[in-house]
Amino acid sequence: MKQVYLDGRFLPADEAKVSVFDRGFLLGDGVYEVIPVYNGHCFQLTGHLARLERSLAGVRMVNPLDLAAWQTMIETLVAKNGGGDQSVYLQVTRGVAPRDHVFPVGVTPTVFVMSNPLVPVPETYKTVGISAITLPDIRWQNCDIKAITLLPNSLLRQQAQDQGAQEAILIRDGHMTEGAASNVFIVKEGQIFTSPKNEEVLPGITRELVIVLAKQGGIRCLEGEVSEARLRAADEIWVTSSTKEVLPVTKLDDVSVGTGKPGSVWQQMDALYQQYKQRLSV
Ligand code: PDD
Repeated sequence: MKQVYLDGRFLPADEAKVSVFDRGFLLGDGVYEVIPVYNGHCFQLTGHLARLERSLAGVRMVNPLDLAAWQTMIETLVAKNGGGDQSVYLQVTRGVAPRDHVFPVGVTPTVFVMSNPLVPVPETYKTVGISAITLPDIRWQNCDIKAITLLPNSLLRQQAQDQGAQEAILIRDGHMTEGAASNVFIVKEGQIFTSPKNEEVLPGITRELVIVLAKQGGIRCLEGEVSEARLRAADEIWVTSSTKEVLPVTKLDDVSVGTGKPGSVWQQMDALYQQYKQRLSV
């Protein structure tokens, strides 16, 4: 039976129970992280835990565990679930209290962590690419906080799925922000561009790594607003996330992106990414 972690204990998944008065359940009052695990090793764990700290501060919660405790607990859970390739999901909610918009005082946060086998993306996502549609960014103004309140993201992703696409690329005030569950990069004349880090986008861990790898690989990368027009005129479009890594978008709103095939700069970045992963997970 799969093991999970709940409030200080490891236990079988089907024995983990949370109160109906948990503010995560009633108000979506919590934050989360998704961390990939390769060959039993958590990938970019320090970055994920730093972002968790930032998200908690953003919703005025104190981190219930210190970094070493998080690390030990997550690594223990990964080992209990057999190592290999996994996807760790963790969430911290403000805790259990009578329903009230105002924060309760003196309540212990609920900490829940699970891990699932990491499902590799279908081969065609890399050989053919994925399709995306553009949609208005209907989310709130603190998208830099990784909050569990994902109803807008879920509605957007479902709309993409309904139209046979794998991701929705979001547009706000005439420029792209990010995907419903990913960051977005474009390539124009050999240079990479991505939205700047501000409250409109999640500071993606994969995004950060791609920027570092681009610099090391001698690919020019610029962080700055990308207009909808530039998005549509891009030679390549990529989406990045912890569980899907870097994927080429070869169709946007049913129109081919560039040549309509995964681009050469993407090939280069994917190779750099895979090499980096390999080095860290031996
Ligand atoms: N989502 N932007 C949004 C809105 C996201 O939900 C995600 C990831 C990203 C990429 O961030 P990172 O590279 O740190 O995974 C950007 C996760 C995987 C999820 O909700 O399942």
